[in-house]
Amino acid sequence: MIESGKVKALIDPFISGNPLCHTDPAELTGISHVFVTHGHGDHVGDTRQIAKANNSMIVTVFELAEMLAKEGFTVNSMHIGGRSSFEFGSVKMTPALHGGGVFNGEFFVSGGNPCGFLIDINGKKVYHAGDTGLTMDMQLLADENVDVALVPIGGKYTMDIADAVRSIGFIKPKLVIPMHYNTFPVIEADPEEFKKKVIGTEVKIMSVGESFEI
Ligand code: NI
Repeated sequence: MIESGKVKALIDPFISGNPLCHTDPAELTGISHVFVTHGHGDHVGDTRQIAKANNSMIVTVFELAEMLAKEGFTVNSMHIGGRSSFEFGSVKMTPALHGGGVFNGEFFVSGGNPCGFLIDINGKKVYHAGDTGLTMDMQLLADENVDVALVPIGGKYTMDIADAVRSIGFIKPKLVIPMHYNTFPVIEADPEEFKKKVIGTEVKIMSVGESFEI
């Protein structure tokens, strides 16, 4: 969750069924925006329930946004490389190398490209990489003066620690938060190992439910 002024935004709210998270989604109030990086179940998560209860705007990639709009949700549909203006600043959709399929109970339908977000919120820049492998495109983010980057380190489906460390060399953020690890045994990773290997950027390892201010 990112909070700034009147904005209370969630990114990929995988809460129900998340073995590490014991929050009741019904207790989340005043959520103005829900950002969704791709259609996989552990990222769409509780988006529908939360957006319905809070009348939140869902920001996601065009194909997935159109599916949610058909279900009656308020969406801001974007696509890779595009920038959209918001009352709090702007959002640029960044590429992610991953799958974007949405499981309909029987098979996967196309949910469009997976993405990341570069969120410029009241003068602070947050880059959420989404689920992605290491890309050369991440070098372009060095020009954005990112304040906080969130990058996956769990491996197997995304970057592992070695590649995540390389990505920080590309992105050059002021601070990095490792994510997408230890939820399930297949994506086990030691964030302390990541912290030791990152040079020149502050690493903030966050526990579930923890918050901090910049
Ligand atoms: Ni995924």
